[in-house]
Amino acid sequence: MGESLKKFAGVQEMGSIRDLIRFVWSTLSAHELFYGHGTDNAWDEACHLVLSSLKLPWDVDNALLDCRVTQAEKERVAEFLQQRVVERKPLPYITGEAWFMGLPFEINAKVLIPRSPLAELLQKQFDPWIDQLQPLRILDLCCGSGCIGIAAASVFEDAEVVLSDIDAEALALARRNIERFGLQDRVQAVESDLFDQLAGPFDLILTNPPYVDAEDMDALPAEYRHEPVLALASGEDGLDCARRILAQSGGYLSEDGWLVGEVGNSIDALLDAFPGHPFILPDFEWGGSGVFILSAADLKQEES
Ligand SMILES: C[S@@+](CC[C@H](N)C(=O)[O-])C[C@H]1O[C@@H](n2cnc3c(N)ncnc32)[C@H](O)[C@@H]1O
Repeated sequence: MGESLKKFAGVQEMGSIRDLIRFVWSTLSAHELFYGHGTDNAWDEACHLVLSSLKLPWDVDNALLDCRVTQAEKERVAEFLQQRVVERKPLPYITGEAWFMGLPFEINAKVLIPRSPLAELLQKQFDPWIDQLQPLRILDLCCGSGCIGIAAASVFEDAEVVLSDIDAEALALARRNIERFGLQDRVQAVESDLFDQLAGPFDLILTNPPYVDAEDMDALPAEYRHEPVLALASGEDGLDCARRILAQSGGYLSEDGWLVGEVGNSIDALLDAFPGHPFILPDFEWGGSGVFILSAADLKQEES
């Protein structure tokens, strides 16, 4: 018997997929775990864990849940439990997949797990915050897996999209995601320290840069410690990257362009650091906060 199966011996007693989900749910609930990397509760996480370990779609027919599971399948569930409960890995790093704006992305531990509230703004094409947005060139700055830029390409079907990141391994994954969605003809990936290797102008710059401040970095739950520090930490007040982006974006936007950035709970520090900036701060219906919108005209005016 494998080590994981010894630790989670109750898995052996389970007969059906439905039994396994119930067992995983009570095991997850009995431990102090952090949720927020794709699911926000133990039940959803148990369903995802079991179904993906059995390579079943998450909207599997209810009748199939009564099928019996094999010994190999029980072992795989026990191995997933070991990683989730003992190692505190977020589930998408175990399954290799995460969903963003309803799209399934390949994920590994070289990139942040997609969860940006920008998904909601994209799905609504920025309505009502930006009037009739029809960008032809979009930049996803600090792209990680490429989730934001690829989602933008799926919403704005006529746009060319550049994904860029400083990390070569993140970009390798972003390129696989471009291929996964068959978008090679209009989405490209460029390695760059912010704007260093990029050529404007862009009609829309979307960015979810690192923005966790030093105090929050010290207090992160164990699950976040599996994510790359480069994707999270951004100096004492969390704004090292955001400051550079605000200083440089104006030079890379078209005249009618827009900058949309996420800084999460560093938004108060941003508003304090840039008093009087005409930030638009959208509300979110599906959860999340900490996003600002600025027009090119406002950015250029602030620079002058
Ligand atoms: C918060 S993650 C966001 C990833 C992705 N956009 C998402 O929403 O899931 C920030 C990303 O910024 C990248 N990054 C950090 N510093 C950078 C820099 N100076 N220039 C470009 N990318 C950078 C990291 O490698 C990481 O992939």
